[in-house]
Amino acid sequence: MDRRGLILCLVSVYCWSAVCSAFVVGGKDGLRLGQVPPLDRAEPGAARKLLGDVRGRALELAQSAEDKLAAAITAANAGSSAVYVLEEDVVLTKPLPWIEKNFSIKGGATCRAGSAPRRCFIDGAKKFQIFVAYMPCAVSIANLELRNALGGAAYLKSSAVDIDGCAFVNNTAEFGAALYMGLGGGKFNVRATSFVNNRATQNAGGAVFISAREGGEFASCVFRGNSAMTKGGAIAQFSGTRPFVISQSNFTGNSARGGGGALWITPNTPVVGDVFILGSSFVKNKAMGSMGGAIGLEARLKGHICGSTFSGNIGSRGGANLVLVGSTGDESLFVNFCPKRPNGILFKPDVRYVATIDSCIPCGPLPS
Ligand SMILES: *[C@@H]1O[C@H](CO)[C@@H](O)[C@H](O)[C@H]1NC(C)=O
Ligand SMILES: *[C@@H]1O[C@H](CO)[C@@H](O)[C@H](O)[C@H]1NC(C)=O
Ligand SMILES: *[C@@H]1O[C@H](CO)[C@@H](O)[C@H](O)[C@H]1NC(C)=O
Repeated sequence: MDRRGLILCLVSVYCWSAVCSAFVVGGKDGLRLGQVPPLDRAEPGAARKLLGDVRGRALELAQSAEDKLAAAITAANAGSSAVYVLEEDVVLTKPLPWIEKNFSIKGGATCRAGSAPRRCFIDGAKKFQIFVAYMPCAVSIANLELRNALGGAAYLKSSAVDIDGCAFVNNTAEFGAALYMGLGGGKFNVRATSFVNNRATQNAGGAVFISAREGGEFASCVFRGNSAMTKGGAIAQFSGTRPFVISQSNFTGNSARGGGGALWITPNTPVVGDVFILGSSFVKNKAMGSMGGAIGLEARLKGHICGSTFSGNIGSRGGANLVLVGSTGDESLFVNFCPKRPNGILFKPDVRYVATIDSCIPCGPLPS
């Protein structure tokens, strides 16, 4: 098996195990958020019990959807391995507890817009973060919309992350407004998820900020109308030690003031995983007052841009589609384009510092 095949194989083994654990509804504690019966509001001691007996009792006593959600996190922190199913919308009126142990949540099929089914949402009311984890646990979120968070909808500092079929809408934060994956964390796998109108108000990564992780994949995702104050209107990645894969994903109308209207990737770890951009489209992204309308890649990495299309991107200071920033020395930036490079590439400081080829071989087998 060649290197790329091995990478995909490892990534898919990881995805498969994550999918399996994410979709066992109920888990061993058998708790379903939507099935918790309402209790008499006046029951004495309910609030105390909510804090005290967390394995199941807290969920039974919780009244509002918001309290049930908080109780689910508290139960997971106490060791429950249930996959929680949220069957109502939640608008936060206070911060949720931090996630400290493995936590899996899934939106149920009960929420409606008129008669049409839609994802249930958790709304941060433009005041609160939604899911926050600092511990190295595993967080899995499926079929939910996370919206209007302030400070990051999913702020998952060191946890492994699995996100499937979600939407992140109108979140704001200093950086990584939808999904923040900080230093020292595990792998990530994000599938069939849309990121719309998320805004990094101070820094990089309008929707997603990734720093020095192992690696991971965004597959079949949509990034639309996200913006960053500095780099990477949709995603900013400050490198990982293992491959970073973006596949079959569409980036439309994202913008950044510091370069890389859709993506910016900068190496930051001693070992730098290759970056694969496969079968994806970049349309009308914009680097405002900066370079690289769609993508910026910086020195000391290997980038593989394969079967991807570019149109209508704008780099107002050059590089309508890409800016490739090389460095001196033997660790220069290498990029292959398959089948061939788009126009609108700006080389910094100039073309001698970046190695590029038009070839499909370094892509490995392309996804069909
Ligand atoms: C947490 O999840 C990870 C990744 O799925 C798994 O390897 C680990 O065993 C889980 N930990 C617990 C305590 O269940
Ligand atoms: C997101 O913000 C836009 C623009 O303000 C608004 O039109 C839209 O309804 C908002 N969507 C959600 C889900 O809050
Ligand atoms: C991306 O755009 C293409 C072309 O419009 C479309 O066929 C594909 O379904 C889109 N992908 C996603 C994940 O929405």
